[in-house]
Amino acid sequence: MRGIVYTGDGVEVTDDLGLREVGPKEVRVAVAAAGVCHSDLSVINGTIPWKPPAVLGHEGAGVVEAVGSEVRSVKPGDHVVIATLASCGVCRACSTGHPTWCRASLGNVSHPFTYKGEAASNFAAASVFVESTIVAEVQAIRIPKDVPLTSACLIGCGVLTGVGAVLNRAKVRPGETAVVFGVGGVGLNVIQGLAIAGATRIIGVDTLASKEGLARQFGATDFIDASSTDAVAGVRELLPPNRESAAGALNPMGGATWAFDCVGHPAVLRNALDVLDWGGNAVALGIPARGTEVSVDINSLAYVDRGLLGCRYGSSRPHHDVGLMVDLYKAGRLKLDELVTMTRPMDAFRDIVEAMHAGQVARGVLEISTI
Ligand SMILES: NC(=O)c1ccc[n+]([C@@H]2O[C@H](COP(=O)([O-])OP(=O)(O)OC[C@H]3O[C@@H](n4cnc5c(N)ncnc54)[C@H](O)[C@@H]3O)[C@@H](O)[C@H]2O)c1
Ligand SMILES: [Zn+2]
Ligand SMILES: [Zn+2]
Repeated sequence: MRGIVYTGDGVEVTDDLGLREVGPKEVRVAVAAAGVCHSDLSVINGTIPWKPPAVLGHEGAGVVEAVGSEVRSVKPGDHVVIATLASCGVCRACSTGHPTWCRASLGNVSHPFTYKGEAASNFAAASVFVESTIVAEVQAIRIPKDVPLTSACLIGCGVLTGVGAVLNRAKVRPGETAVVFGVGGVGLNVIQGLAIAGATRIIGVDTLASKEGLARQFGATDFIDASSTDAVAGVRELLPPNRESAAGALNPMGGATWAFDCVGHPAVLRNALDVLDWGGNAVALGIPARGTEVSVDINSLAYVDRGLLGCRYGSSRPHHDVGLMVDLYKAGRLKLDELVTMTRPMDAFRDIVEAMHAGQVARGVLEISTI
């Protein structure tokens, strides 16, 4: 079976993968398409530690090939989006609608594959850069067959994460303002989530000027090229105080209600805090190396109700939110097809990686099998 394996010193496109039988509560999915998320690149470059060999990819969609004896929610032939949360469904977190807090959903590593005859792990409980994968029943979420799988695959991470951060974690309200740092696959979905939520000022920030067109296409009202402009000063110019400003650099008034770090760098997260209005909150989505810290004067938070929130996987509840994304897409409110700006076969994985680094894609998608 063909797939893309993280070998420890890089990646290999290989035909030497095997897959075990499906268990009673598992589903085998023939992967049709898979988006390349920065988290896959972060495994390859060591930012996200992962034990090799592992089959990469975690943003996928496909067709159910086989189900275990106890599976009831999907059947062979169903089209599914694969969610990365292998949540248990019965703990207190799951029971209160917070599968991203479920203990079973984090650090969930299993070895359904073989690579050159040796056990190989999955990645993010998913592994979708491969012709067929095995996931828990809870992770295979049925979608209508008229949604193209090359677009639907992006719901599996970038869309749930970005739109979910806005709707589920921040709960942005109409008329609020936001700054989105990093206009990549996640950031574009934060931007379109903000447009859906009714934010009136949406400022995209990226170090690549080439991202401006995409940012505006997805709903940004303004764009700052952080390679040539100081992002914090730029935001404060765009969002001046609408009331008499309190003096002092520590707690200036004006700025945004929300700031989203979709990069994963401490300087960016610090900027996200520094662009906030009183009462504003920064949301950390980007994932830097373990141990990375952000430094901030606590007075700039405590005196003016500013906050910092983390957000995993858009705080999503995949069995609700995947359907919501499909509904929004069908209603013309959510752009999925427009996110797919490059498609390649698995052999040309490196083309997508290079295009991501050059800032040439919204999302690059691997076409895995024709279904
Ligand atoms: N929290 C979660 O659940 C979750 C889910 C998915 C991805 N992520 C993380 O989110 C981050 C973004 O992922 P992605 O797939 O969108 O990546 P991407 O490569 O598609 O986009 C990243 C963007 O950030 C821009 N950028 C880089 N440095 C910058 C800087 N200093 N200031 C402003 N912009 C800068 C790049 O030019 C690019 O446009 C990664 O760290 C990824 O691991 C987190
Ligand atoms: Zn991802
Ligand atoms: Zn649980």
